[in-house]
Amino acid sequence: MANVVIIGTQWGDEGKGKVVDLLTRYADYIVRFQGGNNAGHTLVVEGKKYIFHLIPSGILYPDKKCLIGNGVVLDPGVLLKEMTDLAAAGLPVNPDRLTISERAHLIMPYHNRLDNNMEAATKQGAKIGTTGRGIGPCYGDKITRQGIKVGDLLDDALFREKLTENLKEKNFLFASKYNTATFSFEEIYAIFQQYAEKLAPYIGNVSVELDRARKAGRHILFEGAQGTQLDIDHGTYPFVTSSNTIAGNACTGSGFGPSHIDAVIGILKAYTTRVGEGPFPSELFDQTGEALQQKGAEFGATTGRKRRCGWLDCIVANEAVRLNGITGLAITKLDVLSGQSNLKIATAYEEGGKRLTAMPGNIRQVERLKPVYEELVGWQEELCDIRSIDDLPSATRAYIKRIEEITETPVAILSVGPGREQTLLLKNPFA
Ligand code: GDP
Ligand code: IMO
Ligand code: MG
Repeated sequence: MANVVIIGTQWGDEGKGKVVDLLTRYADYIVRFQGGNNAGHTLVVEGKKYIFHLIPSGILYPDKKCLIGNGVVLDPGVLLKEMTDLAAAGLPVNPDRLTISERAHLIMPYHNRLDNNMEAATKQGAKIGTTGRGIGPCYGDKITRQGIKVGDLLDDALFREKLTENLKEKNFLFASKYNTATFSFEEIYAIFQQYAEKLAPYIGNVSVELDRARKAGRHILFEGAQGTQLDIDHGTYPFVTSSNTIAGNACTGSGFGPSHIDAVIGILKAYTTRVGEGPFPSELFDQTGEALQQKGAEFGATTGRKRRCGWLDCIVANEAVRLNGITGLAITKLDVLSGQSNLKIATAYEEGGKRLTAMPGNIRQVERLKPVYEELVGWQEELCDIRSIDDLPSATRAYIKRIEEITETPVAILSVGPGREQTLLLKNPFA
């Protein structure tokens, strides 16, 4: 029996979906525990591309159970669309394959509008560049105890009461602060009644289901969204998402005890990307950055925005190792680095005449960081057809070894292409 957490070590889009899909083979349960449909997880199976925003990436295996934990913020319209699309692809989702926590919070239409209004009203330079999916306002309501939960859909009187109270406040903001249209109770209530009917058979107690699974010796895979530097507490605040993205939240966000976690796999892209605003010390503004963006097809899976690209940052990697207790790294997109004569790895920062090896907590300081690079020799060979570590060019092996040395963490998985089969599984965390 093994229970494994997968998280992103950088600013998201490290290839979590691909690795979750790959490891689902060895798992029985796959659990999303935070975030919402701001996530975009891409899977390529037998040449066919799937992008999931809410449904766990294990869903392509018909005999596995997927769970959406209490820590997720759930937009029911988006979930139902994913379910419809899967059914159209011949993979119908039914309550035997998916449970949604009654304690997860609902993203309401006013959250999306607030998200966009807040961004529009923020001055240039302070904008977060959110995905516009209502994530921040929904988590905001959860923390201020105004949120509407998935389970509330099953209690008509409670749902009506909460919606009425929420609309009083939100409509005041739309009318008086943002000068935009307000919502009527009826328009939202009618849609959510339909959602309630469709989702009712899926709503349950995820914590109890996980406990039963664990006691029966089943394997559980926790699928993180976003990345460590987007964590609300430990990331580059305020340029972060509104949830804890680190491994500790796999427990809080699903109702699973920390002593039952056996391994944490950190997904590390072989270079760095970021979508949205905020500091990015190793960002490249030259042709190399452009080349990585193009060869890596670095476009946001949720918003289609071009991803900013830069060299691998091992201060960021080390932050992730420390914050998540990573037991093994999965290095993805190694194939994208082919063709570079030299590669750089940031091993420290300089700021105000000082050398730093940890990310500062002050955002102004983070904005001033200058990376200190170590240079390695690159390789020209394409890697996408390689399936054994011994067949990798010696320069690629040296690059991997250097990452292991700097992070003091072994590499468990190497990825050399988007396809499920383009993977070198060196140490299976479920074995
Ligand atoms: P996630 O949010 O962490 O799941 O990552 P995304 O799906 O948003 O972005 C990763 C992108 O890289 C997707 O388009 C994947 O299909 C692709 N990808 C994953 N691993 C590899 C790899 O090893 N090589 C290449 N070339 N692409 C990869
Ligand atoms: P996956 O799971 C990359 C970024 C947004 C923005 C910030 C806040 O695919 O790795 P939000 O809408 O969450 O309030 O936006 O976080 N962001 C992501 N960047 N990958 C993601 O998810 C992201 N989810 C949010 O671009 O900068
Ligand atoms: Mg993504």
